[in-house]
Amino acid sequence: EKRSKQAMQEAHQLVAKLYHYVLTETPYGVEAMKYLAKRGMSPQTIAEFQIGFAPDSWDFVTQFLKKRRFSQELMVDAGLLAKSDGGKVFDRFRGRIMFPIQDTQGNVIGFGGRLLAGSQPKSQPKYLNSPESLLFNKSATLFNLHRARPYIRKRKQALLFEGYVDVISAWQAGFPQGVATLGTALTEQQARMIRRNVDSVVLCYDGDAAGQEATSKAIHILQQAGLIVRVAPLPQGVDPDDYIRQHGAEAFSQQVLLQAMPVTAFRLKHLRSQIVIHDETDKARLIAKAVEIINELESPVERDMYLRQLADEYSLTLGDLKWESKRVYKQQK
Ligand code: CTP
Ligand code: MN
Ligand code: MN
Ligand code: MN
Ligand code: MN
Repeated sequence: EKRSKQAMQEAHQLVAKLYHYVLTETPYGVEAMKYLAKRGMSPQTIAEFQIGFAPDSWDFVTQFLKKRRFSQELMVDAGLLAKSDGGKVFDRFRGRIMFPIQDTQGNVIGFGGRLLAGSQPKSQPKYLNSPESLLFNKSATLFNLHRARPYIRKRKQALLFEGYVDVISAWQAGFPQGVATLGTALTEQQARMIRRNVDSVVLCYDGDAAGQEATSKAIHILQQAGLIVRVAPLPQGVDPDDYIRQHGAEAFSQQVLLQAMPVTAFRLKHLRSQIVIHDETDKARLIAKAVEIINELESPVERDMYLRQLADEYSLTLGDLKWESKRVYKQQK
């Protein structure tokens, strides 16, 4: 097993170099380079993240690995190659921009491959990731952690993104303390990996319904791991990479990261966006739910602060709201 893992590791390192070479030094990479330039990715960023291109070929990597005498079976298991029902082996990644995924030591253990916009049939998924293997355990990997770690420690804060493009974009804009999950939901293990380096994390998921949903789930897992969580507000339909490209690094710092909300504030905001208020009954229901969220806070000081805000917002007396809080609390138990 150890030898297989070593061979997989070696193959990934070589293929990452190969993809990077194809992108930056050959005619096959020209279109992909143009696409990346249009997305605002600098040559330094492309070099730092060893971004590459998998040519649109069925046997480019297959031949490359064959010449170097890697076992085809093993390379299929590692996800660099794939095998048809008929037993024919071929390149798994074709015509995709390749993002190497590294472990905490910086060894390449997998890839994320993105289609070039518009150039391929819709039947293909936008992103194709390496499968789970002896080498690549998705639930125990965070994209960019090995690079971000010293910055996370220095800045006493980690940024958690949904996509690796967001991490790369943030890095380029001067926010090197970002990591991302790999197209899967955040796991307890990943939360603990962050916690080992820092006690505070800012969630920067996409400003869409899926992102909000994922944020709610991630909050719980991060808090369970002992992290202080804040949620960065992104405009509707915008992800961090979009935001940075549209508004720049300064705005991302001032309007997004520095506006990151405590979890309770985020949940209250989320609640307001979900309940439509027509009349007093709707309003009372909203307030009861808000109080329920506030009641979950352990600190009486924090509870008091949020109750005062709520009282102000709906022109209630603090006394009535505290009464309501007790009533709701009895039902919560
Ligand atoms: N993802 C995936 N498979 C897909 C779509 C998404 O694995 N078919 C994962 C990828 O890790 C991706 C993340 O989910 O980075 C977020 O998805 P999305 O917001 O759609 O992609 P972006 O990162 O915004 O990518 P881009 O800007 O290139 O469209
Ligand atoms: Mn999204
Ligand atoms: Mn996105
Ligand atoms: Mn995006
Ligand atoms: Mn109604």
